[in-house]
Amino acid sequence: MKHFLTLRDLTEKEILKLVNKGLRIKKHPGFYSKKLKNKTMLMFFEKPSLRTRVSFEVAMNQMGGSALYYDLLGSPLTKGKETIEDTARVISRYCDLLTARVYEHEELEKLANNSDIPVINALSNSNHPCQAIGDLMTIKEKFKKLKGLTLAYYGDGDGNVTHSLIHACSKVGINIYVFCPKQFMPKESFIKDSIKFAKENNSKIVIENKPRKIDADIVYTDTWMSYHINPREKNKRVKIFKPYQVNKNILGNALFMHCLPAQRGYEVTSDVMDSSKSIIFDQAENRLHSAKSIILWCLKN
Ligand code: CP
Ligand code: NVA
Repeated sequence: MKHFLTLRDLTEKEILKLVNKGLRIKKHPGFYSKKLKNKTMLMFFEKPSLRTRVSFEVAMNQMGGSALYYDLLGSPLTKGKETIEDTARVISRYCDLLTARVYEHEELEKLANNSDIPVINALSNSNHPCQAIGDLMTIKEKFKKLKGLTLAYYGDGDGNVTHSLIHACSKVGINIYVFCPKQFMPKESFIKDSIKFAKENNSKIVIENKPRKIDADIVYTDTWMSYHINPREKNKRVKIFKPYQVNKNILGNALFMHCLPAQRGYEVTSDVMDSSKSIIFDQAENRLHSAKSIILWCLKN
């Protein structure tokens, strides 16, 4: 049984396998249409979602299984009536797979440690590995390769998407530059791990506080106001992040990626979002194909 909680745990080979399978599934979806007959996935959500929720649910349906959305607000767990450990044990008796979007990453680990079924991280405050697999799939689809490319990320360095992206890039040999304010650097443990992975793969990981345009293949950004950030922080954060906004000048000839949802006019200008260089909707579509790949990997199918 394999859990899918963070890309730190996966080898380069496993990551590439997930990416390549996503690409195959996109080309031949019919081949996978009965793979998950009689399989049920529970979807545990503590935060909002459009892409992850819908793509996982559609992925299960299109492969012949079913998905059950469960809003954690209505759970005995959230009401303080049941422990997370007991919750995991009970779910394991009904379902084949659990996908969970929670605040604290440690909650996912508790779920995984007490569950007899695979647990997929649908986003925690610190990691978003499903997004990173979909992103690598999109990059491979556009450039026909991964190794040796350069990705420049601008904005919140201390985010789930950034953390998983630096894991992903450093494991597959993409050079990654993160331009972020010094108050919002990636967490030390992610930097340390990724430096090690990048060394093993002959790629670079560079973190700088002064935003500048570089000759990148891909420019990437994420919201400045992640789901877990208190809305009262908005004015303060906008002031700090403003110099990191992706605009036409920063983009240059690179392709533009964003995990979405985007706040137009904040982390990215509308003209970049809508430009011919923007691949954000292909990227969003690939969440579906890569979700299938991740589900099949967890169920060893
Ligand atoms: N990119 C992503 O995970 O989007 P959602 O929050 O809509 O699921
Ligand atoms: N960093 C963002 C990603 C959303 C998909 C957040 O956590 O809200």
